[in-house]
Amino acid sequence: MTRLVCLLGSPRKDGNSDLLARRFCNTAKAEGAAVRTHSLRDLRFQGCMNVLFCKIGGERCGLDDDMLPVLADLSEADVLVIATPVYFCNMTGLMKQAMDRFFSFLKPDYMTAEEPSRLGRGKRLILLQTQGEPEDHCRDLLSTYGPALDQLGFERRDCLRACGMRAAGDVLRQKALMEETDALAREVALGQ
Ligand SMILES: Cc1cc2nc3c(=O)[nH]c(=O)nc-3n(C[C@H](O)[C@H](O)[C@H](O)COP(=O)(O)O)c2cc1C
Repeated sequence: MTRLVCLLGSPRKDGNSDLLARRFCNTAKAEGAAVRTHSLRDLRFQGCMNVLFCKIGGERCGLDDDMLPVLADLSEADVLVIATPVYFCNMTGLMKQAMDRFFSFLKPDYMTAEEPSRLGRGKRLILLQTQGEPEDHCRDLLSTYGPALDQLGFERRDCLRACGMRAAGDVLRQKALMEETDALAREVALGQ
């Protein structure tokens, strides 16, 4: 069974990125995937504080807050789905703070090691990106984060983008995107 962890990065509940993530996760569940969703806006956590516990003896993040069980879930997962609106040409601060905590997945010798990540290789990452502006306004965020995602071991990456989103619910009216979302979710759930 494919184990999927989904992180919701919008401060807005039931906005377009939440809706896109729900669609993806429901389709994956219907195909037999086990799905765990974490809404970052409901968690109390910090970004990485560079205390380096994870590099000098500890095998995990040294900050004991709501992100710790999320990181543990992620270690067990096959697929990570991150759903984020674009805020000022980037992911939201909430999502970035969560991603910074992924630093704890990198081994002490990650800069030189052949296998730099405690996650191993082969986890899959799906980015669900929503934005108010048209497609050419900013890039697919995977292109920005590619080198870090390589180090973390997310070798297979896909992005679904919903552009021109304004009111909550706009995303559900994009028929082609909904079909693409269902198709990718099915493929992911079946481990293809
Ligand atoms: C603070 C803020 C910054 C934003 N910056 C951008 C931006 O740089 N580019 C863009 O295309 N949309 C931008 N948007 C629009 C959001 O990406 C868009 O409304 C998105 O659908 C919101 O997602 P949500 O409904 O899941 O909250 C911004 C919105 C906010 C509130």
